[in-house]
Amino acid sequence: MNRENLKEKKFALTTPLYYVNDLPHIGSAYTTMAADVVARLKRLMGYSVLLVTGTDEHGQKIERSAAIKGLEPQEFCDQIVPNFISLWKILNIDYDSFSRTSAARHEIIVKEFFQRVWETGDIYLGQQKGWYCVSCEEFKEERELLENNRCPIHPTKEVEWRDEENYFFRLSKYQEKLLALYAEKPDFIQPESRRNEVLNFVKQGLQDFSISRVNLDLGIRVPQNPKHTLYVWFDALLAYITALLEPDAEPTLTNALSKWYPINLHLIGKDILRFHAVYWPAMLMSGNLPLPHQVFGHGFLTKDGQKMGKSSGNTLDPVALVERYGADAVRYYFLKEIEFGKDGDFNEVRFINVLNADLANDLGNLLNRTLNMVKKYCDSNMPSVTSQDIPDTNPLKAIGLSLGEKVQYAYETLAFNQACESTLALVQASNKYIDDQAPWSLYKQGQQRTVEEVLYVVLESVRLAAYLLSPITPGISSEIYSQLGLAIDFNDQVKTAIAAPYDTHAQWGLLSSEQKLGTPQPVFKRLDPIKND
Ligand code: MSP
Repeated sequence: MNRENLKEKKFALTTPLYYVNDLPHIGSAYTTMAADVVARLKRLMGYSVLLVTGTDEHGQKIERSAAIKGLEPQEFCDQIVPNFISLWKILNIDYDSFSRTSAARHEIIVKEFFQRVWETGDIYLGQQKGWYCVSCEEFKEERELLENNRCPIHPTKEVEWRDEENYFFRLSKYQEKLLALYAEKPDFIQPESRRNEVLNFVKQGLQDFSISRVNLDLGIRVPQNPKHTLYVWFDALLAYITALLEPDAEPTLTNALSKWYPINLHLIGKDILRFHAVYWPAMLMSGNLPLPHQVFGHGFLTKDGQKMGKSSGNTLDPVALVERYGADAVRYYFLKEIEFGKDGDFNEVRFINVLNADLANDLGNLLNRTLNMVKKYCDSNMPSVTSQDIPDTNPLKAIGLSLGEKVQYAYETLAFNQACESTLALVQASNKYIDDQAPWSLYKQGQQRTVEEVLYVVLESVRLAAYLLSPITPGISSEIYSQLGLAIDFNDQVKTAIAAPYDTHAQWGLLSSEQKLGTPQPVFKRLDPIKND
């Protein structure tokens, strides 16, 4: 591939910009891990990638949280933000741009965009009456509410009645255009179930939504009328665009849009789908800007079958989890065990069982026992076999030949669980193969050539599996590669993209007899089972 082509391979993706009303929770970590996996895969495939994450620091929710702590909002946000940054560090999240809505450059971008929409005539002054959920930062329809005026997403909180002058955005004008967009680009909203949800919602008819508040200090002032502060969502969505600016670039829309725009993928949770799949494209249409390629709404995490929430006292602290089990384990569990798009559960007993079964037993043991056999039967030398010596009908080679393509498809369609399962299938087949072939008996029978072929095929399968899992478990994959004599640090993604690109390393048959194998060591230590009492 020539350099020009390489230049064209660009991929920009985002996580939501998290509210800083509190410390990061496992829900925020979930989306961010998924985004990091996609980014890593794309980098291996030779793409220039921009992974955007960040924080949403405006609105009533933050204003109130700061007041409860007796702090100025900015001081409060500045105390919370480092907790996100440090969580991303321990979780091995390799983001490229961290967008804070409190940044001065963001305000300039928002004002420029607002002006564009203002000039199209899509903003007007009106009276907003309705029930507002501060936790959602969203007006609710009366029919959506639970008993005692409670929000279905925050059932411990009462919604608040508002009757005030607000600026409105003419969302209703975009109903037909949005429906045309969903029809022309069926992948715009994924997965399918979420797409249907949005289609139904839009078909019922869209109402204009208010984009300013008069009782709020924490936010960006409406330039035309500083009595009004911009609605937090109108401002936060635009921070995706601010995030595209080069660090030293002058903050103008032209600069922000020049390299990474349009964004390829917005990863979000299902509760904020409407903002991303309805409001956001309509705002961009009004501003006459191209639209993102895809919005993917994942499900909610539950704990032991219960919805996680502070009120139920069953939140899961991501920091404690990573400190206890390590980043690879946490990343692997959530991406392998939960179908991305559906709700999924965390249960510590299951967590330990899955990690022990997949990473310690199936994968780790396989490498360990095979390397020990190489030590015994081949004098620690890599078998002098090449892939060509192995017939395509060999059960492991047969799987390995098409696995790279299959797993790539799984990652690209965000079917992380399938990427893991397909890879694990090769690992499990390898364990069975080694038991069936029994190299220890072959060795005793003096069948050295066959012993070497069997060991080669298994080691190559472990290598391929380690490579294909590397977007999820970069640490374990680096360790396996190192024991196979391949010095690749999957956390150094710039070097890895050059030294171990997907084109070659996701193919079967890369190991050669030249390699100097390392010392066998467990790549994942078995976790002690938890006793359920
Ligand atoms: N600030 C807005 C996003 C603005 S994007 C321009 C926001 N922030 S949030 O911090 O409240 O939520 C961020 C994400 O966390 C959402 O995608 C939400 O779905 C996700 N989750 C919150 N609780 C969750 C679970 N229990 N499980 C999975 N994800 C959950 O909304």
